Amino acid sequence: MDNQILVTYATKYGATAEIAEKIGQVLRQAGLSTDVLPTDRVRELSSYKAVVLGSAVYIGRWRKEAAKFLKANEKVLVEQLVWLFSSGPTGGGNPVELTEGWHFPKALQPIADRIQPRDITVFHGAINMKKLNLIEKWMINKVKAPLGDFRDWDAITSWATAIADVLKEEVLASGTQSE
Ligand SMILES: Cc1cc2nc3c(=O)[nH]c(=O)nc-3n(C[C@H](O)[C@H](O)[C@H](O)COP(=O)(O)O)c2cc1C
Repeated sequence: MDNQILVTYATKYGATAEIAEKIGQVLRQAGLSTDVLPTDRVRELSSYKAVVLGSAVYIGRWRKEAAKFLKANEKVLVEQLVWLFSSGPTGGGNPVELTEGWHFPKALQPIADRIQPRDITVFHGAINMKKLNLIEKWMINKVKAPLGDFRDWDAITSWATAIADVLKEEVLASGTQSE
């Protein structure tokens, strides 16, 4: 296993992809060699030292490709350093308060318990009504979800910086620094 880092994500309308790109940028700026890929484009997962996996949340669930990735790769992920994030709630304030305590899909929690990620977090998301289909528009109107881009780039950067700090220590401890 070399010191390559993977940031992988599942998105429907792009907000989560941009969060993943930001995390990747912070890790690269910290000198860590990092790939950023959608979950369905990941090959050779076992060659990565660490994995940051994130998904957009729709009706309390992760995108199915992210859930599938987590399930299919549990045995590999157990051996790696893992961080998980969700991109979901819109509106001001603490994202976990906005989702009334929701912080990760219940159905996936047993897998997360086995993988033992270093952290699981929830970031504010973004909703652009123009991109939604009719059913989604109806649902968003019904629950009166705040519209707009609420992504908190400072919170995302801080989280990624904390990951970089842990990884730099791990890379130093393993004795080799990759490109
Ligand atoms: C139909 C619909 C349902 C949603 N359900 C949830 C939800 O249950 N919990 C949540 O936190 N966010 C929910 N969201 C907000 C999205 O997760 C958020 O907009 C996310 O950032 C979108 O990411 P994407 O652009 O990568 O697909 C929902 C959005 C839509 C349009």
